[in-house]
This record gives sequence, C-alpha cells and structure tokens, in this order.
Amino acid sequence: MILGTGRAVPKRVLTNFDLEKMVDTTDEWIRERTGIERRFIADESDTTSALCAAAGRAALEAAQLPAEKLDAIILATVTGDVTFPSTACYVQEILGAGNAAAFDISAACTGFIYGLSLADSLIISGKARHVLVIGGEMLSRITDWTDRATCVLFGDAAGAVVIGPSDGQRGIVDTFIRSDGRLTRLLCMPGGGTKVPTDVALAEKMMFLKMEGREVFKHAVTAMGDAAEHILAKNNLTGDDIHLLIPHQANMRIINATAKRVGMPLEKVYVNVQEYGNTSAASIPIAMNEALGNGRLKPGDRCLIVAFGGGFTWGSALIQF
Ligand code: ACO
Repeated sequence: MILGTGRAVPKRVLTNFDLEKMVDTTDEWIRERTGIERRFIADESDTTSALCAAAGRAALEAAQLPAEKLDAIILATVTGDVTFPSTACYVQEILGAGNAAAFDISAACTGFIYGLSLADSLIISGKARHVLVIGGEMLSRITDWTDRATCVLFGDAAGAVVIGPSDGQRGIVDTFIRSDGRLTRLLCMPGGGTKVPTDVALAEKMMFLKMEGREVFKHAVTAMGDAAEHILAKNNLTGDDIHLLIPHQANMRIINATAKRVGMPLEKVYVNVQEYGNTSAASIPIAMNEALGNGRLKPGDRCLIVAFGGGFTWGSALIQF
C-alpha cells in the first residue's frame, strides 16, 4: 500500500509568454495543442538526484518511515545525473538509506508505473518490505531550446511514493506494463550512449530529445486507452468504479481521449499539466501527491493510473487508498 508521497520542483518557472521570446511560438498555440501554461525549469546548480532526494524525503516523512528501513530505492528516469552509477545510488547517499538496494529503470514517461509494478512484486514475493519509488526528470538538459516542436512541452520535477505491504484493504490491486521496441526511433535521444561517439553526437545535435510528435500522439492515445481498459476488464471494473483517474500528464488532448475511452467524466480525472508541462516519469507521483493533499483522493478511494512513453512503453495500475 502507499504509505506516503512527496514531490519536488526547481524554483524557476518558465511561462508560455517566456517561450514566445525564445522561439517562434505563441501562448495560444501551446495552450490549444497541449493545455500547458507554465513549467518548472532547473537552474545550472540543480541535479536530478537532488530533486529526487527531496521528493523521496517528503514521501518518507509522510510515511513516518526512517530511511534506514527502506529495502529498495527504484528510480525511474531518462535524465539521470550521469550514465553510471545509477542516480538511485546518489539518492541513497543523500537520504542515508544504508540498507537499501538502489537502482534506476528506463521506461521514459511510463517509468513510474514500471517502478510501482516492480516494487509491488518485490513486496509480494517477500524480498522487500518498504520500497521508495521515485520518478524524476530534468528534461530541460536534453531539450533543444531552438526546436519549437519539442521545447514547449517539457518540465523538470520529481515525485515519490513509499510502498509497504497491503493491510488487507488498502494496496496496489494490480499493475500492467508493456512495450514495443519496434518504435524506438519515434521518441528518443539518439546520442549520449555507446552507439555514436560523443564528438559525432554533439556535432550532429544528437544529444537532444527527438520526437515525431504526430506519430507519438496517435500511439499514446491508443496505448493509454488500451492499458486503462485492459486493467479495468481484468479486474471486472468499469470507469464507474474508479474515483480518480490519474493519467500521465503529457497533453490535454491525450488525457481527454483516455478519459473518454473508459467513460470517465473530466471531474474524475486529475489534471495539472497546465502547471508542470510534461515531466515524464514524475507526472503521476506528483499528481498523486497533490490529489492526496487537496482532497481529490481520500481513504477508501480506488485510483486508476495510466501512462505511455518512449520505447514505446505503456502501462496502468489500480490502487486502493
Ligand atoms: N508553436 C507554434 N507552431 C508550432 C509549434 C509551436 N511550439 N510546434 C510546431 N508548430 C507548427 C508546426 O511547425 C506545424 O506547422 P506547419 O503546418 O506550417 O508545418 C504545425 O504547428 C503543426 O505541427 P504538428 O506537429 O502537426 O502539430 P500537432 O497538432 O501534432 O501538435 C504536438 C504537436 C503538440 C507535439 C502533438 O503532436 C503532440 O502532443 N504529440 C504528443 C507528443 C508528446 O506528448 N510527447 C511527449 C512524450 S510521450 C508522452 O509523454 C505521452
């Protein structure tokens, strides 16, 4: 079950009006196509690990759990501090979680659901009792700030949850994760790994996020709808049985399409994409933390989360609060 949640963002806010001064775009275009109004952007001194640790610390405090009691830290990111070691290991040091195994997973915007699924499996199997799952990104560092088609979409942030064994009533009811490796090229950062030498990657602008926006949009709508429908059907539920749908916050049009597929009115859908932009793996734990804080999620509520991202990857989970 979810024992505590937390979130952290950088201080700096970048509005659509700020972006109008940077590239050939307008506030109206960005709002109409995406729903985004502003996003948090890291300063030079910010790091993914520091943001993730701040979110993790807040989640531990909410759970009233000392860091030494963590058995694992699972960190979902595609923008870690360095290629290796894992960003989770840096977070482990900051938190003082000396008894945990710490590792990163790479599933882009679906990363948090992948992490949750893994944490749930560790706990069910008895291999772990308390797991910290963090989704954290600093996409601004791999954004091409001259490319208007991508630079208006993303934001930096981290969200975290502490998971423990179910108490019989509350807990993670089910998780579903999938991927399709045939479509890696549609959303990726081509350089930065071992495939292309770094000097070539820099010269060819391959160290930036690349995206075929229209194609990604089509796949996201289908896969998020499929993932939501699949987990509901498998658990003999419909949208009527769900108190709150938290979709990955990429784009208002994708969120609307997902809600429609499962027949849920927008009043039962959590939306904060206007405030954060697309924060990839961080978006769902941030929304969950907000919803618990502002009363949109209450004890006894059943929550459906669903995401889609680079890979492609997609997934869903049902959580009983
Ligand atoms: N401002 C103004 N005009 C722009 C901008 C901008 N920021 N960006 C693109 N345009 C222009 C294009 O150049 C194009 O002009 P043209 O017709 O003269 O060639 C026109 O707008 C339409 O471009 P499209 O890319 O076809 O616009 P579309 O309606 O598809 O919207 C968007 C683009 C918002 C990126 C959309 O495709 C989308 O949301 N895709 C999903 C992307 C996404 O969310 N990715 C995140 C990762 S995956 C995930 O999180 C689910």
